[in-house]
Amino acid sequence: MPFDLQKLVAERRAEKFDLFDRHLNTQLLRLLKTIGFDIDYVGAEGPYLFDGEGNRYLDLLSGFGVFAMGRNHPTVIRALEQVLHGNFAGMVQLDASLLAGLLAERLAARMPGLDKLFFCNSGAEAVEAAIKFSRAATRRSKIVYCDHAFHGLTYGALSLNGDELFRNGFGPLLGDCVKIPFDDLDALERALAAGDVAAFVVEPIQGHGVNIPGDDYLPEARRLCTQHRTLLVADEIQTGMGRTGRFYACEHWGVEPDIALLAKALSGGFVPVGAVAMRRWIFDKVFDRMDRAVVHGSTFAKNDMAMAAGLATLAVLDDEKLIERAAALGESLTDGLRQRLGGYEFVKAVRGKGMMIAIEFGPPSSLKLKAAYALMEQANKGLFCQLILVPLFQHHRILAQVAGHDMPVIKLLPPLVIGEDDRTWIETAFDDAVRDSHSLGAVWDLGRTLAGQARKSRAGAA
Ligand SMILES: Cc1ncc(COP(=O)(O)O)c(C=O)c1O
Repeated sequence: MPFDLQKLVAERRAEKFDLFDRHLNTQLLRLLKTIGFDIDYVGAEGPYLFDGEGNRYLDLLSGFGVFAMGRNHPTVIRALEQVLHGNFAGMVQLDASLLAGLLAERLAARMPGLDKLFFCNSGAEAVEAAIKFSRAATRRSKIVYCDHAFHGLTYGALSLNGDELFRNGFGPLLGDCVKIPFDDLDALERALAAGDVAAFVVEPIQGHGVNIPGDDYLPEARRLCTQHRTLLVADEIQTGMGRTGRFYACEHWGVEPDIALLAKALSGGFVPVGAVAMRRWIFDKVFDRMDRAVVHGSTFAKNDMAMAAGLATLAVLDDEKLIERAAALGESLTDGLRQRLGGYEFVKAVRGKGMMIAIEFGPPSSLKLKAAYALMEQANKGLFCQLILVPLFQHHRILAQVAGHDMPVIKLLPPLVIGEDDRTWIETAFDDAVRDSHSLGAVWDLGRTLAGQARKSRAGAA
């Protein structure tokens, strides 16, 4: 009998969690069950997910930022179908891919100084390439990165990770990587002063925490890097592709890095992809002789599916004016949340750029709420956020999560295609969930359960 995927899925659907438990990540499954996120999603369209009972969920996690255009965009599907049915001669390897050339041309047009492209299969691979290229181009080895940074989890990228939880147990990591505080120009100047740094790798807005630097940070970082002949590498894997209301977040500050990294949303959420856009001289230092023409690369990089999806995604960004939409709707959503939540004791700040938004919580001022908040924080810093996120999901069907470990910050990465109705849905739901958390009502039963579990799990690990 010919293979039939739909039939297979229909027959085995009920076993989804059992299979995952048996052969994949049991701890992730435990987490999902603990917070009640173990839903059997059966469909998805645009910013929405659907379960078997026809319930609609608004997805503000966007697959960690992959679904900027929402899910299953018809334009990207059509492009992928054209590849599948087109008998393309892809991945010949000893060939010059037309689709890669076209995608490179369109990406180069987004920042004309960066007119050479290297394609790969993920964000972490783009970071690995940036590390290698920076070292090769400058003949220096040191890489400077920031506290709280997240650049991926392969060895080079992990060596630039500013969060111990990810690093612990995996050492030794890459040598000659130096951590400095984010948004601290004195620290950057000191780190670069000896003239031995190949690259400063930085997210224009940090994904973990949604930390937005002061307005002088990136322009001054640009100046310092130029002065010390250090390459400025902008990791735009999360912030790029229009997420913050500009194609690259660096554009908010008029900064042109030497290398810019993209991945996540570049292929419309369908195919793994990564891209490294750089100045021509950097590329030419790496690929400097004919016998080094394949000195860095990856078998599946430049594959037709990824390149076609990338081309279609860029077209959708323009045709649907999604970048302008991210800027305008993001601003009104951030303002709306600020107005609705600003008066609550637990809420410390609402910040964002475009569709990258954070709600930060902190200790309340009144005595009666202080003890409750401390119970959560002592069990696990940032655990309080689950008292908002769990009801948000269960009562309002909005999927969102914390902005990182050990921080009381919720991050929203809405698909750029959400509408005004969705904005109202988000604001009303957050208002409701945050109000409930102040009532010390039923949601605190959940709080006590989660705090107990967090303490037990820490004791188990000790
Ligand atoms: C800023 C940033 N850089 C790099 C990465 C790693 O990308 P990937 O998960 O595709 O390896 C991520 C992923 O979350 C990211 O947010």
